[in-house]
Amino acid sequence: MNLVYVPIILLGVLIIIAGLLILADHLLGGGGERTLTVNDKKEIVVRGDDTLLNTLSDNKIFIPSACGGKATCGFCKVRLLEGGGDIKPTEEPFLSKEEQARNVRLSCQIKVRENMRIEIPEGLLEASEYRAKVVAVEELTYDTRLVRFKLIEPNEIDFKPGQYAQLKVPGLDVIRAYSIASNPANTHEVEFIVRLVPKGLATTFVHKALLVGDEIILTGPYGDFYLREETNREMICIAGGSGKAPIRSILYYLRDQGSKRKITYFFGARAKRDLYYTDEMRALEKEFDNFTYVPALSDPEPDDAWDGETGLITDVVDRTVGDLTEAEGYLCGSPGMINACIKVLKTHNMPDEQVYFDNFDL
Ligand SMILES: Cc1cc2nc3c(=O)[nH]c(=O)nc-3n(C[C@H](O)[C@H](O)[C@H](O)COP(=O)(O)OP(=O)(O)OC[C@H]3O[C@@H](n4cnc5c(N)ncnc54)[C@H](O)[C@@H]3O)c2cc1C
Ligand code: FES
Repeated sequence: MNLVYVPIILLGVLIIIAGLLILADHLLGGGGERTLTVNDKKEIVVRGDDTLLNTLSDNKIFIPSACGGKATCGFCKVRLLEGGGDIKPTEEPFLSKEEQARNVRLSCQIKVRENMRIEIPEGLLEASEYRAKVVAVEELTYDTRLVRFKLIEPNEIDFKPGQYAQLKVPGLDVIRAYSIASNPANTHEVEFIVRLVPKGLATTFVHKALLVGDEIILTGPYGDFYLREETNREMICIAGGSGKAPIRSILYYLRDQGSKRKITYFFGARAKRDLYYTDEMRALEKEFDNFTYVPALSDPEPDDAWDGETGLITDVVDRTVGDLTEAEGYLCGSPGMINACIKVLKTHNMPDEQVYFDNFDL
């Protein structure tokens, strides 16, 4: 055979192989064009077969994903109306029977391999991705710091007091949720109160590496834990540790509204060194006629010289409040603390549907 034809034959073979691969890819559903219909009003044409979570994010729809797609937070739920295949074992622990019956799914576990119709809460369409710059860092205690971010692009956020945002740790595939601790009236900045978790990926980054001037990516706002404004009910707020963050935002908002609601804020800490923003809360008490701040120490140190409330926060609440039939509860902290507080509020007749909580554990 004339050697002149070898490159031409090789080229022909390569073209045939490439064609076959494209055909196979098309038939198997990878890489082709699909339509993703969101809430029956937004149609997105997508290619590739990335996860639904990532595909939505690429198209500026930011679903909460506090574990970054590892099926450990259960935050990324969407409802599938068409397409998406069967529920995977990784999804089952996060879906109630009722959710499974409605075909609610974890968007991080679904690949977009066919046309799909999905339903997500309307509020999520308002979440955005922000470039933000650290403008202040303040040590609140030995393990808790406040970080203030100025929003660069977009430069404004509209959030309900109590909601949270997500922080992406640069260089690591790590996303974590942090409640917005600042006054919603300041739409150009957000503050987080971050408590260091030993060996924790995001908190170690925030405490040991993040500096004023650094840029970071945030997404949000998210969450159903926010101030209910349709009533004027008495409010019982209970928090521990960094759980102070969303309640602080709620308090600033209510103060600015000139609210007359009766509010008692129980804050549980072990010892005096775990307390922070006490002066700020005392100042709010002066600005708010009906606001009372009750810090309580469960394990005061001998030299704390503490003359305030002592004991578990649940016991302090139990002996302080009266009948709560007409009150609302706003609870924030670890699941153990929240469950114990719910029990106490129930014994004081607070109806289940008037209790709102944010569980900080994943
Ligand atoms: C809606 C929401 C709002 C939140 N708001 C805040 C906030 O305002 N401030 C704040 O500091 N945190 C908040 N968190 C918790 C936060 O998202 C992270 O889970 C936490 O900061 C730990 O992240 P990490 O990457 O440092 O730890 P990881 O690397 O995720 O965890 C390291 C180890 O610590 C354990 N661990 C994780 N979290 C905790 C914890 N809180 N206490 C004890 N052990 C833990 C893990 O099981 C793991 O073994 C919030 C969580 C949610 C879901
Ligand atoms: S992003 Fe955490 S479970 Fe899907």
